[in-house]
Amino acid sequence: MRFDKICVLGLGYIGLPTASTFAANGVQVVGVDIDLRIVETLRRGEIHIHEPGLRTLVEAAIKSGNLRVENLPEEADAFIIAVPTPFFHDKTGEYNGETYKLADMRAVTSAAEAIAPHLRKGNLVVLESTSPPRTTVDLVAPILEISGLKAGADFNLAYSPERVLPGQILRELIDNARVIGGVTPESAQAGYDLYSIFVRGEIVKTDATTAEMVKLMENTYRDVNIAIANEFSRLADRFGVDVWEAISLANRHPRVKILSPGPGVGGHCISVDPWFLVETAPDLTPLIYASRQVNDSQPHYVFDLVQRALGSLKGRKIAALGLAYKPDVDDLRESPAVEVVQLLQDAGALVKAFEPFKPVAGIPGIDAVPTLGESLADAEAVILLVNHSSLKDLSPEKLKSITPARILIDTINGWGGRDWEDAGFTLHRLGVSENRDNSKR
Ligand SMILES: NC(=O)c1ccc[n+]([C@@H]2O[C@H](COP(=O)([O-])OP(=O)(O)OC[C@H]3O[C@@H](n4cnc5c(N)ncnc54)[C@H](O)[C@@H]3O)[C@@H](O)[C@H]2O)c1
Repeated sequence: MRFDKICVLGLGYIGLPTASTFAANGVQVVGVDIDLRIVETLRRGEIHIHEPGLRTLVEAAIKSGNLRVENLPEEADAFIIAVPTPFFHDKTGEYNGETYKLADMRAVTSAAEAIAPHLRKGNLVVLESTSPPRTTVDLVAPILEISGLKAGADFNLAYSPERVLPGQILRELIDNARVIGGVTPESAQAGYDLYSIFVRGEIVKTDATTAEMVKLMENTYRDVNIAIANEFSRLADRFGVDVWEAISLANRHPRVKILSPGPGVGGHCISVDPWFLVETAPDLTPLIYASRQVNDSQPHYVFDLVQRALGSLKGRKIAALGLAYKPDVDDLRESPAVEVVQLLQDAGALVKAFEPFKPVAGIPGIDAVPTLGESLADAEAVILLVNHSSLKDLSPEKLKSITPARILIDTINGWGGRDWEDAGFTLHRLGVSENRDNSKR
């Protein structure tokens, strides 16, 4: 199939790189976002998200005339839906007395509704948003069919999950293997033809529901494995063990690969997607549910660690370093670091948070300061919440020169293996028992 013009709905972390990569490969792209501020920002040649190399790519795409930014879709050969699929914060489902989170599919619904009037015979529609199983066939197809055209017969419809790693999106978009699931084999083939325009990794065709499951299985696998690492950190603490040493020793087993514990699981993927499986089959997912509970409670475990280190938190001055949900990105969605700061503030601590990738974080209720120096200047204790390179690399000498604090709390193994004690600091580490008997070493 030929694709001269495509419409990408949703110009965020996924849609914007996708739209500009298609444009860079000679396709006429209409990028669509309902947020007028985003539309205006992009039209000015600026971008609203941090991703290495993206600004240059977007600028070139707009300059070449191949990328145009609008707030409504229009006729095209293909439509890609890359809109958010978070969970609802204000409503939950219930099964056997346990509550679970519910997917908020309103953006997918309205994107499909916006495409329907422009749909023509022979078009391709691809859903990229991470979605509960059967969304493509049970939610998106019926909406598009309001056009009078039949999915799989008159137009092609497919689901293709995105696997890119924030911070590496532009490279991974091209190099990663991609799964494309069609509602018919012809739809999968049309999707294959579309992504072949720029994907160099393997493109594997399957059906739409399998492709949806693949994405959810990938992220759920990681969530469950992080949950077990978090439980190991709690056990290590109880038994006088350094969890980081124990994990590194266990991982020398040829078939074991334990992931890293931390302050919790955040972002819009791993902390969200397992709920899509729980929601659609609560009777079949007790392990996935339990893992979500463990990871969601980890910020509270970190809070307890801080309390053990400092005693009463009321009026205590704490520098919290890092707010993003993972290292070297600016994304604060569902971030456990933010939750830890909130818990500390609720307990009366005077927290100055610093996020190097979003110096003015703009989170309601969080006191974020624009510089590292400001966060540290009058702190009694410093808590490392995200392994951002610039924070992880702080040396004892450097830290000593910019803060009076001598109590450090490392929740993410960023500061292990350095001589903090020689420099006068007391370092508390997640998963490393305070009662560890070093005399036998
Ligand atoms: N960011 C990632 O690393 C990543 C990785 C894999 C999968 N995903 C999935 O991709 C999807 C998009 O994620 P994202 O991170 O790009 O989200 P995002 O919030 O960064 O961007 C989504 C954009 O869609 C816009 N939007 C909302 N409703 C719209 C509509 N009806 N029409 C047009 N635009 C609309 C929003 O204004 C926003 O700019 C989600 O389902 C997410 O789970 C994201």
